Amino acid sequence: MSRFSRWIPVGMMVAAVAVFVANGIAPARDKKGPDKAALERTREQVKMLDDLYKTAVVSITNNYIEGQASTPAASVAKDVFEAMHKKGYHTARLIDATGKPKNKANVAKTDFEKKVVEQMKDGKAYYEEVGQVDGKYVLRVGTIVPVVLKQCAACHGKKEGALLGAIVYEVPIK
Ligand code: HEC
Repeated sequence: MSRFSRWIPVGMMVAAVAVFVANGIAPARDKKGPDKAALERTREQVKMLDDLYKTAVVSITNNYIEGQASTPAASVAKDVFEAMHKKGYHTARLIDATGKPKNKANVAKTDFEKKVVEQMKDGKAYYEEVGQVDGKYVLRVGTIVPVVLKQCAACHGKKEGALLGAIVYEVPIK
């Protein structure tokens, strides 16, 4: 037995311990993810917000919008989104999925927003990811915004039922 071959088993043991440490400790921390019950509560919260915002937008459009010159419900939604953000609850953004937004500021910007647009174009109505902001878990969700009324169609130049955009949420999981 050469001087080197005698050290091979020791080398293998060191390597095995190193692999064990790497697999056993580091990924365990990454895999932990958010608390399951908290994640469920956050999903429920987003679902509620989504119903609330969409019901408000449709009702405003039905009751107050009289033509292309009217202030769109989207402007009201933006004000409310901003207020909710300022108060520290969550962020929400109305984004475009047509490639021809009424306002260029509404194009998808972040990787997540771009992913949401891709998913909506693929026929999905909902897409979510768990992410982290400053070491804390957040739930990111995108929900579909189609042409639900003929008034939407009149301003946006799309047929009823067509995909217009999405609302993208980022809500802390707690
Ligand atoms: C009176 C015209 C008008 C009507 C009606 C209208 N919109 Fe809009 N919409 C706009 C304008 C203008 C913006 C840009 C607002 C901004 O960002 O300041 C916009 C923005 C949007 C956006 C963001 C992407 C983009 O194009 O900028 C979506 C999605 C959207 N509207 C969906 C809808 C839906 C759904 C309806 C029907 C419930 C609707 N809109 C009705 C004028 C309208």
